[in-house]
Amino acid sequence: MKIGIDKIGFFTPNLYLDMNQLALNREVEPEKFTIGIGQEKMAVSPITQDPVTLAANAALKILNDDDKSDIDLVMFGTESGIDHSKSAGVYVHHLLGLNSSARTVELKQACYGATAALQLAKGHIALNPESKVLVLASDIARYGLQTSGEATQGAGAVAMLISANPKIMTLEDKSTYLTADIMDFWRPTYSEEAFVDGKYSNEQYINFFQKVWQQYKKETELRLEDFTAICYHLPYTKMGLKALRTVIEDGSKETQERLLDNFEISKTYNKNVGNIYTGSLYLSLLSLLEHQANLESGDRIGLYSYGSGAVGEFFSGILQPCFKDYLQKEAHEKLLTSRKELSVSEYEEVFLKTLPIDGSTVELDVGQDPAEICVAGIKGHMRQYINKKQ
Ligand code: COA
Repeated sequence: MKIGIDKIGFFTPNLYLDMNQLALNREVEPEKFTIGIGQEKMAVSPITQDPVTLAANAALKILNDDDKSDIDLVMFGTESGIDHSKSAGVYVHHLLGLNSSARTVELKQACYGATAALQLAKGHIALNPESKVLVLASDIARYGLQTSGEATQGAGAVAMLISANPKIMTLEDKSTYLTADIMDFWRPTYSEEAFVDGKYSNEQYINFFQKVWQQYKKETELRLEDFTAICYHLPYTKMGLKALRTVIEDGSKETQERLLDNFEISKTYNKNVGNIYTGSLYLSLLSLLEHQANLESGDRIGLYSYGSGAVGEFFSGILQPCFKDYLQKEAHEKLLTSRKELSVSEYEEVFLKTLPIDGSTVELDVGQDPAEICVAGIKGHMRQYINKKQ
């Protein structure tokens, strides 16, 4: 049975910071951010967006009424969840008006959560071919003002509808994965910001890639030649390039050129949005699908997922006939071009304005935020969500 991505969309908040401005303000050479790290703009999340609303806004744009009644499993991958107990997916289930005969859970393993959801969705559909699964990947990446990870922040969500006979990409059966208990990046429950050992994290990301890729090659007998493109988890876009470079020489000159060209295209949205943690790999896939005009039905795309702590996986998908007809390139580009640029001091102000954690009541002005679904405040320790069109 063919199982895979039937629909895919993304959402990011309406505010951004230009990396050149951040570099000037932090007294580093702009090229460090734009070339050394490979980021141009960074999405900034206003107080009226959180991982729930980002995911709900992403899913809103891809689902029709039939999907809403057919979805029987919602899996929400995130590492910036808003509650230790209740799944962020349950809020989204309500905000989207999904069928109540559904299972809903949140999955966490740093930036790997959405990949776990995708693979579990595959198993669920194999047993229940009529089912549709909503996979949500949503995060706000916060390292803190004036930290070394500051330039690798961002915010956004990717929503994917997984089904049998998908219109965009089938997932191939074989995948290779690896778990090891390491401390390269983590966020204790008492901290709003992540802790990261940047150099170690980079090393482990590459180390995991090499291991799962070698294992994948051994088990499938596929080679670099067999891939039209490889998409990477991209906390910042240079990171994926570093991993690709470690294996690229195994391919012919033509393969090397193709993979490097397609890598450039696969970072189009990521370099303008920044890090969205678990959604980053899928934002990269979307960048490739919506910007590489030469892709064809039958092309094989490799995907490398990495979640610090750490779990890594290499898997692949095959593009389906007419997949381009089911993408939303124009809407995604409009989302990015209609954003408002912030100065560095405005970004700092937005960054520091967070929801209270002492149980006080807050009512937020959602009029400043063009998103359809927003956080409207907190009352009785409960976040209040609003869909402006309902
Ligand atoms: N022009 C071009 N490139 C420049 C430059 C300039 N003027 N100045 C610096 N650079 C390059 C450096 O050479 C380096 O490139 P390299 O890694 O290819 O050698 C890159 O810019 C970063 O510089 P570095 O000195 O390593 O930056 P840093 O010590 O401030 O670290 C991060 C910044 C972002 C790399 C680090 O904080 C990090 O890795 N953070 C996040 C990691 C992560 O997200 N992990 C978890 C998920 S996997």
